[in-house]
Amino acid sequence: LSATLNNQLIHSVSLFQSIESTNSYLLTQPIDTGRARLCVAESQSAGRGRRGNEWLSAPYRNVMMSISWGFERWPETITGLGLAVALEVAEYLRESFHVDVQIKWPNDLMVNGAKLAGVLIDVGGESTGACNVVIGLGLNVHQPDWSQGGAYQWQDLSGLGIRCDRNELVSGLANRLVKMLSDFATTGFASRTARWNSLSEYAGKRVRVLGVGDELEGVMRGVDEMGALLIDVDGQGVSRVVDSNVSVRLS
Ligand code: BTN
Repeated sequence: LSATLNNQLIHSVSLFQSIESTNSYLLTQPIDTGRARLCVAESQSAGRGRRGNEWLSAPYRNVMMSISWGFERWPETITGLGLAVALEVAEYLRESFHVDVQIKWPNDLMVNGAKLAGVLIDVGGESTGACNVVIGLGLNVHQPDWSQGGAYQWQDLSGLGIRCDRNELVSGLANRLVKMLSDFATTGFASRTARWNSLSEYAGKRVRVLGVGDELEGVMRGVDEMGALLIDVDGQGVSRVVDSNVSVRLS
């Protein structure tokens, strides 16, 4: 694995047979400005998903990886970081396997309406003025059962007829993600808005946004340059949703 990694940007790699959570592990390690640490595990005993959900993933068959990165100061469009991660993963999978991956706001990777991968972002460092992030990716490669449950239909690469080498997958994704992280301080999310919108799962469709106080319903108009979700509410103009703890459903 390490032979193919970008060793200019990735200065430590931790591999575990099993760990609580690769995101939680990297949060216990120092985070340096402009340098990445990569953590990969074959299984997690307390894998975390967004919104306090568990992330369940079968051992030795999937991808569970996290990368930590320190920004010197807070990027203006930090709210778009998760969207930028999802975009890199979507483009990587599209280019490598010609699979029609789309992104469900803010950062779920979907194929034909079923979830293939999820992204979890932990942000810290407020007290020092720096901005430390841990980005986590759970990608279903060969998941024998779908006890993850919840509101989703699930998908994995093997179900799409894709055979792949997980080492190649991890190094390809890690290299692409650290390149994005090293650019993000200067280019932010804004420069990626059009690319994200071109892969948006619900663009132009009627959706309901759940978990924003009063339920919001309208036509999804993509995201703006901060990564906020734009919902065209009948007769009331466009509402911006910034809180990524909401969920979006087709109505
Ligand atoms: C989601 O869609 O809810 C996000 C899932 C993120 C799962 C990954 S697996 C590697 C990393 N470690 C964790 O505990 N979570 C992320």
